[in-house]
Amino acid sequence: MAFLTCWACVLVGCLSASLKRASDFSDLYPPLWKESPGQLSDYPVENGTYIINPWVFSEKMGVYKILLNKTATYFAKFAPGNEQNLLWGLPLQHGWQYTSGRLAYPSQRTDCGYESDHLCVSVDSWWADLNYFLSVIPFLAAVDSGVLGISSDQIRFLPPPKDQTRFCYDVSGCHSSFSEIMNKWIDFYQYMKLPTSNFDDLLKYLWDAHTISLKTSVKSFEDRTPFCWVALLAKCINLQVHFL
Ligand SMILES: *[C@@H]1O[C@H](CO)[C@@H](O)[C@H](O)[C@H]1NC(C)=O
Ligand SMILES: *[C@@H]1O[C@H](CO)[C@@H](O)[C@H](O)[C@H]1NC(C)=O
Repeated sequence: MAFLTCWACVLVGCLSASLKRASDFSDLYPPLWKESPGQLSDYPVENGTYIINPWVFSEKMGVYKILLNKTATYFAKFAPGNEQNLLWGLPLQHGWQYTSGRLAYPSQRTDCGYESDHLCVSVDSWWADLNYFLSVIPFLAAVDSGVLGISSDQIRFLPPPKDQTRFCYDVSGCHSSFSEIMNKWIDFYQYMKLPTSNFDDLLKYLWDAHTISLKTSVKSFEDRTPFCWVALLAKCINLQVHFL
């Protein structure tokens, strides 16, 4: 528990540093942001369903890009240019995981995540596994909340090469495997859609959703120890010092 609490505070630190960074320098986007898909029609379609491969970094960044785009309208009352969109913290954090090599196969026994295959997101990376619960699930919850303007069965994510049962791939699958996480994210989007929503309460809803995603995934991937969480802490402290 102490471990988790520590994690949570590290992540809050990262999130707030990232948010601050995003609002201070509005042109500072996550890596490969411009090259990543910006609309659903950029993804392949099978039988009327968009197919997204979250084990490819740019395809996953595209998920965030679409989410940021589709939620922009609800944050417009707080600041122009989508600057105060609370979801910016997620792609910024994921971008940092990518540039710092944390999404690669940990022991370099495969090319996944290394130079020759640098967009590969390894299912053996603890960071990538945790991030799944902070990207794919929030996205599917947004779809289910009507934020994307498509029906719930129109999106499917591709499974990793192994450990398929540890993830979920579409709205109905995520509801049955991770109902608590889905519901918290849906609560966030439902509140976001209210004309009366305010920033502080939005932050609370986001925090609840973020925490449950982390708690569940940290527990579920206990067997895959992070190779260096101390480095994250150091990095975060650095970021904080630099940006605050
Ligand atoms: C598309 O739908 C048809 C009819 O439901 C089905 O037979 C086919 O297998 C589906 N194709 C794919 C790629 O899912
Ligand atoms: C969202 O994406 C559309 C299509 O790419 C674009 O025209 C629009 O300006 C974007 N909106 C925001 C707020 O980024």
